[in-house]
Amino acid sequence: MEKLQRLVPGYRSVGFMLVMGVTMGVVYFCLDHNNVIGFNLIGVANIADDYSFEGCDLFNGSWVYDNKSRPLYNEKECSFMADDYACHKFGRKDFEYQFWRWQPHGCDLPRFNGTALLEKLRDKRVVFVGDSVGKNHWVSLLCLIDSWIPDPSHKVAEWHGSLITFRASEFNASIDFYWEPLLVESNCDDPVHHRVHDRIMKIESIEKHAKQWIDADMLVFDSYTWWLVPNMTLLWGSFENPNRTLIESGRVRRYEMALKTWSNWLETHLNRTKTRMFFTSLSPDHKEYGDPMGETCYNKTEPIMEQGYWSKGTDNDLMRTAQSVVQDLEKKGLKIELLNITQLSQYRNDGHPTIYKRHWVPPTESELANPIANSDCIHWCLPGVPDVWNEILYTYIRYKV
Ligand SMILES: *[C@@H]1O[C@H](CO)[C@@H](O)[C@H](O)[C@H]1NC(C)=O
Ligand SMILES: *[C@@H]1O[C@H](CO)[C@@H](O)[C@H](O)[C@H]1NC(C)=O
Ligand SMILES: *[C@@H]1O[C@H](CO)[C@@H](O)[C@H](O)[C@H]1NC(C)=O
Ligand SMILES: *[C@@H]1O[C@H](CO)[C@@H](O)[C@H](O)[C@H]1NC(C)=O
Ligand SMILES: *[C@@H]1O[C@H](CO)[C@@H](O)[C@H](O)[C@H]1NC(C)=O
Ligand SMILES: *[C@@H]1O[C@H](CO)[C@@H](O)[C@H](O)[C@H]1NC(C)=O
Ligand SMILES: *[C@@H]1O[C@H](CO)[C@@H](O)[C@H](O)[C@H]1NC(C)=O
Ligand SMILES: *[C@@H]1O[C@H](CO)[C@@H](O)[C@H](O)[C@H]1NC(C)=O
Ligand SMILES: *[C@@H]1O[C@H](CO)[C@@H](O)[C@H](O)[C@H]1NC(C)=O
Repeated sequence: MEKLQRLVPGYRSVGFMLVMGVTMGVVYFCLDHNNVIGFNLIGVANIADDYSFEGCDLFNGSWVYDNKSRPLYNEKECSFMADDYACHKFGRKDFEYQFWRWQPHGCDLPRFNGTALLEKLRDKRVVFVGDSVGKNHWVSLLCLIDSWIPDPSHKVAEWHGSLITFRASEFNASIDFYWEPLLVESNCDDPVHHRVHDRIMKIESIEKHAKQWIDADMLVFDSYTWWLVPNMTLLWGSFENPNRTLIESGRVRRYEMALKTWSNWLETHLNRTKTRMFFTSLSPDHKEYGDPMGETCYNKTEPIMEQGYWSKGTDNDLMRTAQSVVQDLEKKGLKIELLNITQLSQYRNDGHPTIYKRHWVPPTESELANPIANSDCIHWCLPGVPDVWNEILYTYIRYKV
């Protein structure tokens, strides 16, 4: 493995976007269950090796209430659960949000099999690269795999600065998360202290990060929420010694510039025969910031059933920008796929932590008095929506060459 950065201790008071749940140094996790394996239900395909979803759009479908096959794991029993997503632990009382299964219109999703996934990942390194929603996605995958590795000493997570590694030692497989919320270098890159007032980024610099993951066999990227602030400072040269700066208020333009830096780097440095990539489309936040009467996720207990529902706060322009950059990379022969999870996640405004999560900064009286305005409608409770993103990712990894 490459050079690791200094170890950062866990459990600090940090901002609301934050990253770390529980791990500190080397942690061995225990496991006290081994359920979820071995039933067979309507709507969940048998996992024959010849399963194919060719011609079926896995992202177009509907949510089906299914309290028999869902949830795929229990919140309390996941060894890797982080306090940011442990909604029951922090007071959420309803359970229904855990009982929804994603049903594509044209086919069934195969049932998740952690052993089969790890066999596919044998001797490989997977890295999730991005922001706290990417971390949510990664923690969900570890929770899904957890019960398939009964021996706690065979699954170890370690935290090294911006990188958290998970190793399934029997398979010599790593599934890592790398904190890089804007993809390019920025003053938000500290995995703990990144709650800065003015976001500044080196719009053409990515190497410092990219060399940490460029050798991976599989990469899963995401970057969206951090781009939504009105103004960001773009900088050329170094932080200490900038040779040019620009305040950029055009979201799309600065997002395009960063994605260009990112895609240029991939084109030049990625081993195309080796590395397979996924880009997660934007995860909607069900809240209209700055509008007290706007949409919220607080107190919602059921998915939205209206087909094609699209949250007003979702930035379609950023979505199209990411989509076209991904398509360009694909045209140039890189193995990249869009995990087009925006629409399916749009329906689930019941799936967010709202106020039921660890508050890294204790809420003030007035925040407590106004839960609607102070709800987290960005991240997702686990078990929950990111499990479906991973069921789809699993389907690609296992069944699509
Ligand atoms: C989703 O599937 C439905 C039913 O098959 C179809 O009518 C609709 O056009 C599809 N939507 C998209 C965005 O492909
Ligand atoms: C599952 O849902 C059905 C329909 O709502 C309900 O009748 C049943 O009691 C539920 N089962 C469990 C185990 O919650
Ligand atoms: C999971 O996959 C492994 C390896 O392909 C297989 O041996 C096992 O039977 C599967 N387990 C279940 C419950 O389907
Ligand atoms: C483990 O996987 C790495 C690639 O991630 C490979 O370089 C190494 O040789 C593997 N080790 C063994 C013992 O197979
Ligand atoms: C954004 O920057 C512009 C100048 O480029 C300034 O007029 C405006 O007040 C700034 N907005 C915020 C919210 O800081
Ligand atoms: C600023 O510095 C960067 C990196 O050193 C360099 O690529 C760029 O050309 C410089 N720009 C100007 C205007 O000097
Ligand atoms: C790219 O990866 C393939 C498969 O792992 C390997 O055989 C090849 O040597 C690599 N190419 C370079 C230039 O590293
Ligand atoms: C949330 O739901 C509960 C129970 O349905 C209700 O008593 C409460 O007033 C709701 N709170 C808000 C802020 O809507
Ligand atoms: C992703 O999904 C959206 C909404 O369902 C759709 O409009 C868009 O065409 C899809 N993108 C791709 C590349 O399939």
